[in-house]
Amino acid sequence: MQIINTIFQIQEELSQARNTGKTIGLVPTMGALHDGHASLVRRSVKENDVTVVSIFLNPTQFNDAKDLERYPRTLDNDCQILEQCGAQIAFAPSVAEIYPEPDTRTFSYPPTDSVMEGARRPGHFNGVCQIVSKLFQMTNPDKAYFGEKDFQQIAVIRRMVQDLGFKLEIVPCPVIREESGLAMSSRNTLLSTEEKVTAANIFRILRESKTQGLSLQETEQWVVSQINAIDGLEVEYYSIVDGKTLSELNDWEDSDDIVGCITVYCGKTPIRLIDHIRYK
Ligand code: PAF
Repeated sequence: MQIINTIFQIQEELSQARNTGKTIGLVPTMGALHDGHASLVRRSVKENDVTVVSIFLNPTQFNDAKDLERYPRTLDNDCQILEQCGAQIAFAPSVAEIYPEPDTRTFSYPPTDSVMEGARRPGHFNGVCQIVSKLFQMTNPDKAYFGEKDFQQIAVIRRMVQDLGFKLEIVPCPVIREESGLAMSSRNTLLSTEEKVTAANIFRILRESKTQGLSLQETEQWVVSQINAIDGLEVEYYSIVDGKTLSELNDWEDSDDIVGCITVYCGKTPIRLIDHIRYK
């Protein structure tokens, strides 16, 4: 596997590949890779001639400096995982390479980027669009792979792709979970063993909420009260929304694509965890 650090070199490599008729799969990541990322990379390797995995801890999408500082950095281990998965290229540029000047572009795709995470993390999705649009321009992939764990992120990126006319396919990939049901996330490494056990209650309760026979609003309230009753967990929000537009719903009959999205603070630090469940 090649490790490339510059935009010039990635463009050289990929234009050669494209000129010889090869297809390109891009898996954008911020590093600290786990089995969830590995599943995206394996899928891209299966579906494309060349798989590029970007490893870039993008500062512009962090609205909390402490969160950025704490974020795990494990480049050597990441490269080993990528080798094992069969990726051809790891693209690991520096911040100065990606942002030689501050990125002043703004992106706005309401309601996808204004509700839930968008309302609580000002500037987050703007930063995501800044880096993802740059990566798309630099690598010009045929397909780009994103984990459905960041459910809202995929909806925002789809809008950006449509808006800017990128000619590529977004491939959403299912959440990979620990045996306990906890959604895999780079942030899980910041949880103690005990906190991981506590955090597994989030998905258990989301699953149980499907069988309670409650109205949509009662379901939202039920999930929040069940999770908050557990020591070490505190719900930031639970919203049951339309799976495409992400607009809030009032009734189970309001859409045929319904997803519940949750953010929970877990443990002493505390660590912010997100998850979701599909109702329809
Ligand atoms: O999902 C992530 O890890 C990041 O938001 C992404 C898409 C790699 C952009 O930095």
